[in-house]
Formats: sequence, structure tokens, C-alpha cells
Amino acid sequence: MPDVPMSETAALLHARPMVPQIAHVRRRRHDAPDAWTLELDMANGERFLYAPGQFNMLTAFGVGEAAISVSGDPAEGPLIHTIRAVGPVSKALSQLGVGDPIGVRGPFGVGWPMAQAEGKDVVVVAGGLGLAPLRPALYRLLRERARYGRVTLLFGARRPEDILFRQEVERWRGRLDIDVEVTVDHATDEWRGHVGVVTNLISRLDTDPSKTVAMVCGPEVMMRFVAMALIDKGLGEETIHLSMERNMKCAIGHCGHCQLGATFICRDGPVFTYARLKPLLAVKEL
Ligand SMILES: Cc1cc2nc3c(=O)[nH]c(=O)nc-3n(C[C@H](O)[C@H](O)[C@H](O)COP(=O)(O)OP(=O)(O)OC[C@H]3O[C@@H](n4cnc5c(N)ncnc54)[C@H](O)[C@@H]3O)c2cc1C
Ligand code: FES
Repeated sequence: MPDVPMSETAALLHARPMVPQIAHVRRRRHDAPDAWTLELDMANGERFLYAPGQFNMLTAFGVGEAAISVSGDPAEGPLIHTIRAVGPVSKALSQLGVGDPIGVRGPFGVGWPMAQAEGKDVVVVAGGLGLAPLRPALYRLLRERARYGRVTLLFGARRPEDILFRQEVERWRGRLDIDVEVTVDHATDEWRGHVGVVTNLISRLDTDPSKTVAMVCGPEVMMRFVAMALIDKGLGEETIHLSMERNMKCAIGHCGHCQLGATFICRDGPVFTYARLKPLLAVKEL
């Protein structure tokens, strides 16, 4: 056991990792056509502590449990999750209203390499809802800005209306300490930005590959092409980090649902280097 004080939430997780704790919805926001963001207060009144890139198992009572990344600011505020309604659990979670109870089990997994990125340039590449698991890393980068070199966000969405956290992305674009480029696959008449896949933006990157760390999250095929484009740019496979999604049940390395070869996404990830993932990406979901 580490010789540091443990929050009540962390102690309970350690003692009973399969038992969710109760939180209540403080606020619910519609952030993109199919994505809702929930702000949660833990019922025990504690602030929920986590590292950028970690995830929780969220329970919609009476329906089930799903893995959802934390999308808020690790330094402050309520626990925040952004959910795309794709199936029974995510639909039930995204429909919860203010005051409703929700089960929280976590945080789990290894997050983004924030310490490794110190002193380096950081390129964050997000596709669609992939911006949600990356947002805690962006908050950390901006909050501790002096620790990092040049910070760049490259973000791709299908259409302008699919741009997640739109107002916040616009605020970041207005800052002088982060370069933000947004592209859409399909433009509307009003769209004045880039059109095309997010990999196109990588060729325009102005960074020294020998001192750059990349953090990438989005659909698996997008992450594969982004990793290849970053390698073309000169980045090493060890410096490109991807967050993987797989079907999860226990989240503690017991059930094998998330297993890829000898790797458990829940316990060893969800963030991995491309060097480690490359041989596994060919393995179909179990
Ligand atoms: C580490 C981790 C972090 C995650 N973070 C988030 C997050 O922040 N926000 C979020 O909304 N989801 C996230 N997910 C994905 C989420 O856990 C799954 O979508 C989950 O299966 C939803 O459960 P469900 O019962 O609603 O849908 P299911 O019944 O499991 O799935 C319904 C349908 O959607 C398809 N589907 C499932 N997952 C996806 C997906 N990721 N993309 C496209 N289609 C899918 C299934 O194949 C199925 O056809 C994360 C997953 C992992 C492993
Ligand atoms: S979800 Fe059970 S081993 Fe990973």
C-alpha cells in the first residue's frame, strides 16, 4: 500500500473493487447531437480523484454498467463524463436527469503520459468523441503550461455540428499558448475551416519529432492512420500514445473480456504506446 492518505472513495474501491459507489447528477448538458455530458457529485461529498485518461465503470441502475472515460478537469470541480448513446447502458446514462443516482466504480487504468511529456512538445489528436478522454490531459497541459513545450490540438469531426465541446474549443483557439486546428469530413456552407480527415493536418505540423509526445484518441481506424502519419513525420513508435476501447465487464483484470493477447486493456491500458499496440491492432475484438 502506498504511504499516502487515501480518500474514502479510493479506500472503498481498494477494498471492494466490484461495488459501485453512489453519485448524483448535478448537471446534464447536450454537447453534440448524440453526446451528453454529466456532472456528478459523489454522495459521500468527496472530490473524485483521477489521472487524465483514466475511466470509470458507470452503472445505470436497473440497466447495466459501461466503461466511460472521465472528461473533466482533474484539478477541480465535479466528476464529469461525456457519453455517446449507442446502446442500452449509454442511452440510460445519457437520459439521467438532475438529482438522479448513478453508480461509479473506479478510477481504472493507466492514463496519458503527462510526466513523460514534461519538457517536450505535445501533439493531441482527437477524432469525434475521442476529444472527451483527452480533455483532462488538455486541462492539465494548459494548467501547468510552463512544464511543456509547444502544445497542439488537432481535432476532426464528421460535420461542424458534431464538434464536441464547441465553445471550449473556440476559446482554446483564441489562446496564444496552444495551436488548435479543427477539420470536418463534410462541410456546410457556413464552415470556413479545414475540410478532410484529421490525418491531413499532421503533414502541416511544425514540431521537432525528437522531442514530441503524441496523445491520440478516436475510432480505431483513425488512430491507426494518425499513428502512421506521425511516424512519417519522424515520431518514434514509443512516443505515440493511443487510448483503446474494448468491451469491459470487471475492469480489474479478472474476466478477460477486454483481453488482447496477454494484454488487458482495463488493467494495462486503456492508454498504450503504438509500439506496444501495433502487433495487437490486428487482433479482432474478442
Ligand atoms: C476505456 C474505455 C473508455 C470509454 N470511454 C467512453 C466515453 O468516454 N464515452 C462513451 O460514450 N463511451 C465510452 N466507451 C465506450 C462504451 O463503454 C461502450 O460504447 C459501451 O459498450 C456502451 O454500452 P451500451 O450498453 O450502451 O452499448 P452496447 O450494447 O455495448 O453497444 C451497442 C452497440 O454500439 C456498438 N458500440 C459499442 N461501443 C461502441 C463504440 N465505442 N463506438 C461505436 N460503436 C460502439 C456495439 O457494437 C453495439 O452495436 C469507453 C470504452 C472503454 C473501454
Ligand atoms: S474487463 Fe475484465 S479483464 Fe478487463
